[in-house]
Amino acid sequence: MRRPVLAANWKMHSGPTEARAFIAAFTARWTPHTDRTVIFFPPAISLTTVIHALGGRADLGVGVQNIWTEDKGAFTGENSAPIAKDAGARYALVGHSERRHVFGETDAQTAKKCAAAARSGITPLLCVGELLAEREAGATNDVVVRQLEAGLSEIAADTIASMAIAYEPVWAIGTGKTATPADASAVHAAIRARLEKTLGQRAAEVPILYGGSVNAGNAKSLLSAPGVNGLLVGGASLDVQSWAAICDT
Ligand code: PGA
Repeated sequence: MRRPVLAANWKMHSGPTEARAFIAAFTARWTPHTDRTVIFFPPAISLTTVIHALGGRADLGVGVQNIWTEDKGAFTGENSAPIAKDAGARYALVGHSERRHVFGETDAQTAKKCAAAARSGITPLLCVGELLAEREAGATNDVVVRQLEAGLSEIAADTIASMAIAYEPVWAIGTGKTATPADASAVHAAIRARLEKTLGQRAAEVPILYGGSVNAGNAKSLLSAPGVNGLLVGGASLDVQSWAAICDT
């Protein structure tokens, strides 16, 4: 089974100046652990600043929060996977709940974005998660498995085995409400079972992260839940002390 992944999703926070200061403070505070992977997802404009500020440390990875489906062309305002790769990104978030629910990203687009990342040698981190109404209707696993199947539909099994998945219930993102460790484990088990259908035993190689109001106080119990292989953290990753504490978990 792979190493735990701690991923910071900065969303639309931290331009280059703030990002540089954050990384300086974080790397001064945080002692590297070789038994885990730490990834920063800054805004695209701050990506190269973060990479330079990290000074080539192999234990700290950097990714983009979004890419477009095509490699180049007339898509004003978008960034492609080859551009992100050239800038130094090793990972790309795909299908984050805000992309789906604020910007109307479809399952078909998440499939094309995962494929675009994979063909450029960027690891996709596919995000899936149900709305509160879907949870209350008992449809959580159906929604999550549908998003998973759709997102993975255009990539080969070998690529799937080297990517990562994040389960982020939409009602838990930025709300202060988290899934209980038991609820997270149940959904992670459904995701793992679906991956096993495609990958067999290699499904164990795919880290499945939990995200949604993770903080320094609840990180340990969520990370200890069976089947939870990492955390995708928004708000609490913007504070050096709390993010370093989460990375120390
Ligand atoms: P949150 O965001 O930790 O602020 O809930 C998580 C995310 O959106 O990835």
